[in-house]
Amino acid sequence: MIQPVARLAAALSLFAIAAAVQPVRAAEPVDVQLAGQPVQAARASSLMPPVQNIYGRSHQSLDGRWSYIIDPYENGYYDYRHMPFDQSASGKGGFYDDRKPKDKTDWVEYDFDRAPTMKVPGDWNSQAEKLQLYEGTVWLRQVFQADPKPDRHYVLYFGAVNYEAHVYLNGKKLGMHKGGFTPFQFDVTDKLAKGRNVVVVKADNTRHLDEIPTVNTDWWNYGGITRDVMLAELPATYIADYKVQLAKHDAHRIEGYVQMSDAAAAREVTVSIPEAGVTASVRTDAHGRAAISIPVDKLQLWSPEQPKLYTVELSGGGDKLADRIGFRTIETRGQDILLNGKSIFLRGIAMHDENPLIPGRTRSQGDMRMLLQWAKEMNCNYVRLAHYPHSEEMIRLADEMGLLVWAEVPVYWTISWTNPATIANAQAQLTDLIVRDKNRASVIVWSIGNETPVSSPRNAFMGKLAQTAHALDDTRLVAAALEIHRKGDEVTVEDPLADQLDLASFNEYAGWYWASNAEMLNYHFKVKYDKPVVVTEFGADALGGYHADADTRWSEEYQDALYRNQFRMLAGIPGLRGMTPWVLVDFRSPRRQHPYFQDFWNRKGLISDDGKKKQAFWTLKRYYDEVQRKYEGAGAQR
Ligand code: GCU
Repeated sequence: MIQPVARLAAALSLFAIAAAVQPVRAAEPVDVQLAGQPVQAARASSLMPPVQNIYGRSHQSLDGRWSYIIDPYENGYYDYRHMPFDQSASGKGGFYDDRKPKDKTDWVEYDFDRAPTMKVPGDWNSQAEKLQLYEGTVWLRQVFQADPKPDRHYVLYFGAVNYEAHVYLNGKKLGMHKGGFTPFQFDVTDKLAKGRNVVVVKADNTRHLDEIPTVNTDWWNYGGITRDVMLAELPATYIADYKVQLAKHDAHRIEGYVQMSDAAAAREVTVSIPEAGVTASVRTDAHGRAAISIPVDKLQLWSPEQPKLYTVELSGGGDKLADRIGFRTIETRGQDILLNGKSIFLRGIAMHDENPLIPGRTRSQGDMRMLLQWAKEMNCNYVRLAHYPHSEEMIRLADEMGLLVWAEVPVYWTISWTNPATIANAQAQLTDLIVRDKNRASVIVWSIGNETPVSSPRNAFMGKLAQTAHALDDTRLVAAALEIHRKGDEVTVEDPLADQLDLASFNEYAGWYWASNAEMLNYHFKVKYDKPVVVTEFGADALGGYHADADTRWSEEYQDALYRNQFRMLAGIPGLRGMTPWVLVDFRSPRRQHPYFQDFWNRKGLISDDGKKKQAFWTLKRYYDEVQRKYEGAGAQR
């Protein structure tokens, strides 16, 4: 069982030493540094640290239809004494054996071959009526052919499994991973068979108080293997990780590193950007890490208007790799947010990782492009990907389509602040997110949580997360969706955590959860921080197609009027530099039970569950067109 602490160390530490010519064997981990943080590596299974840009490596996709067995009593995992089969002396007995009856007298009470199948990637809730509300264990099996070569390294990669995954290959336990929205991978170099292989996953989306997220969320608890699965083939020595981005606040120098999979020192590593005439060769240190610092002057900077991506080529130790990377700087100066040195307004919208037309977790680039295209149609230059890490593909699409990103970990509402395992879990998810997306130009904000109530244990918990984010990446902003407090008609944002954050960002539901549409204009905001103000949520439920006067809740007119009033109310905040109204499109929620207006949908979308734009969609677009004109006008004068 991998504890979050070990997983954090594994995520931060990088790679086994590979014997040069011998079949690659997992060996002693290497102590490395990340952002100057010395780290002790610990590993209790073949769970291995992330491989940067896994999609850029040679790989075999294991996506497709997987057989599944629903197991509410975890009968395939525990014996009748509730002892885990995989911890028994033989390690056998569970469904992961994929056992077939030896003959007609033999007794086996499960059969993946005759079991139904479901799509992977794909949540199970949207693939079988009886699984729509199911929370518990489902076993998933895939059979695949492999032809492993002796001088190669093999990695079994999962983009995401919600929530707790126990993974087995050919009946052997590979390990366990917790966290439904970040990737994990196993070193299977010496476990892969020539020919037929069987991978079995026990996925369990049961909610628990001490987990991240905890038991209470306003989104559907989609279970299963929700993102890609692949078998990657890597050279015996390979480029394990790298960061190639502009230095902090410096558009004329690329700063970062390349980490090899072994700790060989003085190994030559090359980073080049042919289109920009940039190339640099450096040597690895005693940890197999090569720091890079390259002066650049002809780079076209990435921006939403011009999302320029360069092909960056990396080579070292016989390994070659390319990535599509954009270069931009992001910083705050007083109440301004500066992108490439120019003040911007974040014209945003919040969204979940859900395709309402399925409804279910997004499964393909098509789903993701549809969501981001809707945001572009509203003239957004920014999206808040709530409340958990969305897929790597989604972030790469934002890079390509020119949308700035607020990325977040599901530290949502009231968490078990004092439980060490809970903080380690949160830290691990945050680290996995930053490690995965640190080369993405679109990502400008790491968010450490949403609407977490002020208290000393919470402040300590969130303070640690803020430190981790700043320590892991000093080139991006760190923030959280804070809560507001009301005194009479004054709305204040007062939170000790804000001192450790780069934005004064908060959710406010004037006109919906408090005050009516008419009353909300009586309120004014007092934000005492000399930081850019970004309103991370406001909104109202409206049933698509339901029309009435502007005072009738649930109507499109009410939602539309609320947006107009919000723009007027928020115009009173001098430091307002962005917003992400809640929410792009209606989404599923088990907390929304009004039989007529909701039916398990949160209706705050500007687009309905069947993809129709509500009135407020166009109202927000017009507002953003105006804001854009103002900023471009001002920019021209500056
Ligand atoms: C909250 C929360 C969202 C939720 C929204 C709502 O502030 O952050 O996750 O969906 O409000 O109530 O609609």
